Amino acid sequence: MSTISTRYLGLDLKSPVIAGSSNFTSKVDSIKEAEAAGAGAVVLKSLFEEQIVSLAHSLSSEGSYPEADDYLQYYTRTNSVETYLELIRNARRSVQIPVIASINCFSEKGWTDFAVEIEKAGASALEVNIFFIPVDKNQKSTDAENLYFRIIDSLTKKLKIPVTVKIGLRFSNLLNFAWQIRNHGASGIVMFNRFYEPDFDINTMEVVPASVLSNPVEQRYVLRWVGMVSAQDIKIDISATTGVYTGEDAIKYLLAGATTVQVCSALYRRGFRVIAEINEAIHKWMEDKEFTTINDFRGRLNYRNIDNPALFERSQFMKHYSSYI
Ligand SMILES: Cc1cc2nc3c(=O)[nH]c(=O)nc-3n(C[C@H](O)[C@H](O)[C@H](O)COP(=O)(O)O)c2cc1C
Repeated sequence: MSTISTRYLGLDLKSPVIAGSSNFTSKVDSIKEAEAAGAGAVVLKSLFEEQIVSLAHSLSSEGSYPEADDYLQYYTRTNSVETYLELIRNARRSVQIPVIASINCFSEKGWTDFAVEIEKAGASALEVNIFFIPVDKNQKSTDAENLYFRIIDSLTKKLKIPVTVKIGLRFSNLLNFAWQIRNHGASGIVMFNRFYEPDFDINTMEVVPASVLSNPVEQRYVLRWVGMVSAQDIKIDISATTGVYTGEDAIKYLLAGATTVQVCSALYRRGFRVIAEINEAIHKWMEDKEFTTINDFRGRLNYRNIDNPALFERSQFMKHYSSYI
């Protein structure tokens, strides 16, 4: 008899399928729906560092007393945080599955104390989504990367709950970066965040937001890196997110070495029932293949475990593209 239960960040999950951070995880009712559909855990909608700061600024009126501005900023911060803490407390009371809080940030200053409150409110873990776009050509890539490590250091010093780091896809050496994330104390890595991307409208000649929801073909950008990172000797749990719509998609990420997968766009397109369908498909596939646990096949197709690791590498580019007619 197969079981799809797994362990992620030291937490026991009934399923490797997590409802990823989005508006679908910002209310207790929908978190309950996620649990009822069979989600192994939920990642709450992020509390945004920018959101808090910009809201505070928009409330401060020109010419007012500095004390009033300070008060407004304090008020906005504590209220945004209080609403979020209340969501964590309510969610923990209402569901049995782990509730992972999420913070979207770009610096280590002024907010990491909030994380302590998040822990006190009962979050099972913290997912930190570092969304930092370098815009200064004078900044070296190592300086940009050090920012991630300072954030992780600051959090892991303060928290007892596990910290997992959601990152973007593009780093010069992702394997080293993942290793350093682990060395700085993170227990997990979430691959990958879906950043806001600009698009152009050629009629109005304006910059407009690109499609928010993902497409299943985007998985291929993630599969290689999950397969490469999981093959390293790095004690870090990988949660794969991008383009999971079906059981087949989830199984591919598990075969690449992910411990869990997160679904988000699929929830927008098809609702929570997609989680039940994915669970069922994983289960059926495991029975067909006679796997008892996810660990029986997790990472089976990663960079270390396949006969020809070059399939992940540059040489494939030459072979593939030169023979394509
Ligand atoms: C509408 C929407 C809202 C999202 N909000 C958040 C968020 O608050 N925090 C976060 O870390 N990721 C957020 N994400 C990213 C998702 O959690 C997920 O990582 C990403 O969309 C890739 O997964 P998918 O292909 O299943 O959508 C959001 C995505 C969408 C589409």
